[in-house]
Amino acid sequence: MHMLHNPDLLITKAKQILALNWNGHFTKPAPSLYPHQWNWDTGFIAIGYAHYDITRAITDLSHLFSGQWTTGMLPQIVFGQETSARYFPGPDFWQSWRSPHAPRQPLTSGITMPPVHGLALWWLVEHSEERQATLALIEPLFPKVVALHHYLYTYRDPHEEGLAYIRHPWESGTDNSPVWDKPLSRIQIDKAHLPAYQRQDLQTHDAVHHRPTDTDYDRYVWLVDLFRHHNYDDTAIEAHCPFLVQDPLFNAILAWSNECLVALGGELGQDMRELLEWNELTIFSLNKKLWHPAKKRYAAYDLVADEHLPTHSTSAFMPLIAGAPDLHQARLLLEQLDSAAFSGTAASPTWLYPTFSIKHSAFDPKCYWRGPVWININWLLYQGLMRYGLGRHARRLKEDTIELLHQFGFCEYFDPRRYSDTQKGYGTTHFSWSAALCIDLLSH
Ligand code: GLC
Repeated sequence: MHMLHNPDLLITKAKQILALNWNGHFTKPAPSLYPHQWNWDTGFIAIGYAHYDITRAITDLSHLFSGQWTTGMLPQIVFGQETSARYFPGPDFWQSWRSPHAPRQPLTSGITMPPVHGLALWWLVEHSEERQATLALIEPLFPKVVALHHYLYTYRDPHEEGLAYIRHPWESGTDNSPVWDKPLSRIQIDKAHLPAYQRQDLQTHDAVHHRPTDTDYDRYVWLVDLFRHHNYDDTAIEAHCPFLVQDPLFNAILAWSNECLVALGGELGQDMRELLEWNELTIFSLNKKLWHPAKKRYAAYDLVADEHLPTHSTSAFMPLIAGAPDLHQARLLLEQLDSAAFSGTAASPTWLYPTFSIKHSAFDPKCYWRGPVWININWLLYQGLMRYGLGRHARRLKEDTIELLHQFGFCEYFDPRRYSDTQKGYGTTHFSWSAALCIDLLSH
């Protein structure tokens, strides 16, 4: 790498951010915008801690899993005790106590997120200097992660295809990606019947241009209201929910985590047959159902309309992380990552990778998941490229990622247009996974 700056300094700053966001029980995604514990954030954060504080990672993950429901569902948010923390929707809105499966404490949200936790456990063991000791530390978490996968294959896979569906854009992690626009548009809001609420995500400067619209927010809230109306009963929700989507990002992460659990289970002396069967089916269906032959990349599948959704987001490439594409498919994916839609042109290159095609009319360089670069997505794509031996591409991606963090700080997301204006970082600053994944990238 030809970077001029000092990686040690960047690692020190990243560790300071994680220390700042540690509240004694868990690591918050950011100091004030996200004051509770988030599901996949905790997984990504553990990947950073793997390099210097395994105990902290285990404490963090254990706190997250203390919010696991008896069905195995792992909530998207586990609420902390900070009563001053302003966040919407908070525990009073979710009312997780309506479900007989939710823990009484801690209070949680009632939806899940991409299951990165098998991967996080694997990272902790792989990077540990004392492998046996770390294996012993992660052992209590292992069956809980398996229970999460069991939940996904049992309650989220109606056709037994090995593809888990999401039922809310917040379950995707890529909240307001344009890919969700069409299924969301099925929800017609009748304001008279929508519960009153006040957004809390518009605190940062100019946030109104960078966050989801009020119309989308109404739909997010409408879905939560539907879930709590059905007391979070999985069967009832499946029958009534207008948003049921099989996402390639979610399922690629599930597959990679399966693989990690199989590897760990081998070392822990566990019977791995079920996980192997699940994984085989998931890989098969990623290629059979989510591969879009005409677009030559992976597409999300809308179970309600029974059709593929648009493929213009980086989630279309994510099955690389799970080793799902064959070499021919991987070459096709690479061509598209190299195309103007994601890499720009020689005269006007992007920062790798915009999360949504810069050529598409829905592309917005500053708005949340509608175009900006996100560090976790880059990190995942980096792993996918490395898996296929695409070292040159992976190195360029790593260089861009580090350079963005170095120049613009540990922001939540970044404008992908390289030469547009000087401001690049948006959303909250001091963002934990930007820091944690930077530590990991610089440690290899
Ligand atoms: C936003 C992101 C989501 C993340 C959360 C906390 O909602 O879209 O992926 O987990 O913030 O950082």
